[in-house]
Amino acid sequence: MNGLISLTQQQFTMFQTFIYRQTGIWTQDGKIALLSNRIRRRLRERNLESFDDYYGLLTAGTIPGELEAFIDAITTNETHFFRMGSHFDWFSGPFLDEVIDRASAGKRERSLRIWSAACSSGEEPYSLAICLAEQASRLGGWTLEVVGTDICESALATARAATYKRRSLESISPDRLSKHFVSAPGGDTWTVRPAVTQLCQFHRHNLLEPMPGRKFDCIFIRNVLIYFDAGSKAVALRHLVGSLQSGGYLVVGTTDGAHDHLEGVERCSIFLYRKP
Ligand SMILES: C[S@@+](CC[C@H](N)C(=O)[O-])C[C@H]1O[C@@H](n2cnc3c(N)ncnc32)[C@H](O)[C@@H]1O
Repeated sequence: MNGLISLTQQQFTMFQTFIYRQTGIWTQDGKIALLSNRIRRRLRERNLESFDDYYGLLTAGTIPGELEAFIDAITTNETHFFRMGSHFDWFSGPFLDEVIDRASAGKRERSLRIWSAACSSGEEPYSLAICLAEQASRLGGWTLEVVGTDICESALATARAATYKRRSLESISPDRLSKHFVSAPGGDTWTVRPAVTQLCQFHRHNLLEPMPGRKFDCIFIRNVLIYFDAGSKAVALRHLVGSLQSGGYLVVGTTDGAHDHLEGVERCSIFLYRKP
């Protein structure tokens, strides 16, 4: 097979529509080279010569795990610990102060359920869990849960393994690094300590579908809606707001364009919304 074959415009449109229906991601028309490269990996894996053959195999749904592998190949999983530090400053500061004060006044239970939606390889949920672990003295006796979800199985496997290279850790202070991670001999990977990992659980979830289970006190949804169009943003945000407790907070990426598609929440700041 010619390693550099590219999708034709017609094949591009076919995959663009398929990806959109499966994930809500709208692949921009200019991304034909990028999408060709990503799908070519699946052709190689399946020993196929043409994109049409691969499309047939993918949509027939006869090969277990192929849809998941395709989604792994086409998603952008870029992330790092404490990405947009000010969001975590809000979480550790005003948010935890408010919930702890309300619990002390008997106005809420001593439990917190946090959702990192589209968490990729786990850096965001572990950053949230680190914030909770650092407040252990104020949160003694609380039930704490951080749920990380993503559509991409390989990213979730990395999240569960909890071992990271230096590049993911560049925004972490040396103090936090030594407190919450153990370095491998040689020092090129770092593993999150059990005090933090035990607060986290990971599940596969598609933002186009409602999230089953109990509602959350705070949801982080950052740097994913930027890949969605207006229709899929509205669907995902409706499910997210539906999964939020009354009085709960939604933290959005500032470039995600969520604002125009949000209903049922009040704006607190450029990145923060509250369900009344
Ligand atoms: C760029 S990462 C963002 C990670 C993290 N939230 C952050 O801000 O650093 C985007 C993630 O969204 C996930 N994603 C894309 N479409 C999704 C969908 N429909 N449902 C759930 N996750 C999705 C991708 O697999 C990818 O891991």
